[in-house]
Amino acid sequence: MNCEFGSTSKGEKARLYILRNQRGMEIAVTDYGAALVKVLVPDKDGKVQDVVLGYDNAKAYENGGVYFGATVGRVANRIGGASFELNGNAYELTANDNNNSLHGGRDYYNKRMWQAEETDGQKVMFSLESPEGDQGYPGNAKISVIYELTEDNELKISYHAVSDGDTLMNLTNHSYFNLSGHASGPVLGQEVFIAADAFTRADAESIPTGELVPVEDTPMDFREYKAIGEEIETDYEALTLGQGYDHNWALNGKGMRTVAGMRSKETGIVMEVLTDLPGMQFYTGNFLISEQGKEDTEYKKRHGACFETQYFPDAIHKEHFEGPVLKAGTSYDTMTVYRFHTEA
Ligand code: BGC
Repeated sequence: MNCEFGSTSKGEKARLYILRNQRGMEIAVTDYGAALVKVLVPDKDGKVQDVVLGYDNAKAYENGGVYFGATVGRVANRIGGASFELNGNAYELTANDNNNSLHGGRDYYNKRMWQAEETDGQKVMFSLESPEGDQGYPGNAKISVIYELTEDNELKISYHAVSDGDTLMNLTNHSYFNLSGHASGPVLGQEVFIAADAFTRADAESIPTGELVPVEDTPMDFREYKAIGEEIETDYEALTLGQGYDHNWALNGKGMRTVAGMRSKETGIVMEVLTDLPGMQFYTGNFLISEQGKEDTEYKKRHGACFETQYFPDAIHKEHFEGPVLKAGTSYDTMTVYRFHTEA
């Protein structure tokens, strides 16, 4: 099912696609930016909660600067110095975060119309052609993102890309989750776990130094559930530099596995994150100052938390970090699942 979602300043008409399952879950996604707009989950009392931050229409997505629900690429997170070399050629990107490229530079994938295809009642595929030179990257790339809602209350996001020349590819979803409801305020009392023994240390511009720091005995240790706010104000280098949590965790294990979780005692809603990727930026909305969102909600600092699964930031400049080169003739295929249930 789909309906109008307003138009952009260029007059492009966006649509909102709604997927429902038999268990009362519903998600809404739009072809503008291939963004996740709503995630409706019944809470422990049967009341439906929308657990992602977002806007009411395409124009607000166009004007927004905080990546609500966004599909981010060609390379999510940062590339130091906004440049890289591949096969002996140098490529210049747009520096939009200090001297670095963040989330694809200024010509964001989340500010474009994607081609939509409703494959069945529970799946929508968004496709984008990103030509050679787009954002500064080599290779004509064909990208698709599939959102699927299953009867197991899983929101599955699958990414697929091919390119006719070697390029970089590191796509993610930038949804801000608030399991007490999108308009409920700060998430500091909600609990998170991250299955990672280490995180990537970063400098003052959030570029990894290359070091993997064990989380043991640091406020970055989320190996067991703890409240987001419990140690967020600790005088610890990473937290001071990031103004809270805004780091890439080096996820334990390989292949599709559970890498993180979040839960709200208030609603009893629990979300598990599964992915086949090696890293995840856990970002606590430290730079969300005042954003006018859905249903007249004003979102502020730490009103949501992002679980951005990805290859490690700046991997192209760090030999011991996996990815993110996509070779011509091969395909980029990854999946991230947000799975919901409730606890009394
Ligand atoms: C980054 C933050 C940035 C945010 C933008 C996150 O992925 O790590 O530093 O401010 O995106 O909303």
